[in-house]
Amino acid sequence: MLKLEDAQIVSNISLTKDFYLITFKAPKIAVEAKPGQFINVKVSPGTDPLLRRPIGILDADPEKGIIKALYFIKGKGTNILKERVEGERVSLTGPHGNGFTVSKESKNILLVGGGFGVSPLHFFASRNQDKNIFVAIGGRSAENILLEDDFKKLGAKVLVATDDGSYGDKGLVTKRVEEIIVKNKIDEVLTVGPIPMMKAVAEIAANHQIPCQVTMEERMACGSGFCFACVCKTKQGYKTVCLNGPVFNAEDLEW
Ligand code: FES
Repeated sequence: MLKLEDAQIVSNISLTKDFYLITFKAPKIAVEAKPGQFINVKVSPGTDPLLRRPIGILDADPEKGIIKALYFIKGKGTNILKERVEGERVSLTGPHGNGFTVSKESKNILLVGGGFGVSPLHFFASRNQDKNIFVAIGGRSAENILLEDDFKKLGAKVLVATDDGSYGDKGLVTKRVEEIIVKNKIDEVLTVGPIPMMKAVAEIAANHQIPCQVTMEERMACGSGFCFACVCKTKQGYKTVCLNGPVFNAEDLEW
């Protein structure tokens, strides 16, 4: 159930020039959060900016009451958020959205992430350690590759590709997806990242008749299904990303 929480910042650190990791003490949301869901963050105590910023949940520890989230600096809101420091309080709502759902029978799961799309996938991997997790991470260059070691610590098999070849395989990560699916008898695919990447992954999964879940990102306002600012087109009509998503079955989307 959706909660409003006056959360305390535990830490807010830069992982690279563009990516930050923020940790909140937010016990009510931490108890509820599931992989694939997000929090809506009021980045400043005042009214500017007015709208909250949706950020995917990287991890939730219900016992310690801790939520972690990874964010990318791309505008006014995230530039304000990166200046917030330990001990300050931030209003959060969450957890929002539906999250990933995989079948109990599925043993071999492939996660394909681009940029900070790896964040919800890492949360999934940490909560599904009874499954064989394969991860393919793509990015423009080495500094856009995040959480590789964190996935490895969970026992996942990880492949990295960069467009410029500065780290891992050279080229698009999607080039290796088919091979991973076939070699490892993948049962389901989850993907988070840029639309062209997710679309390519979904096509490959469909060719192998494997279910594929994709995570949509849209500009949001209310974050709770009221304003219709975040709709995407599906075969069943327009759906809100914040309430009906952000996770959709790839076969349901009209890309
Ligand atoms: Fe308002 Fe999704 S942000 S309906």
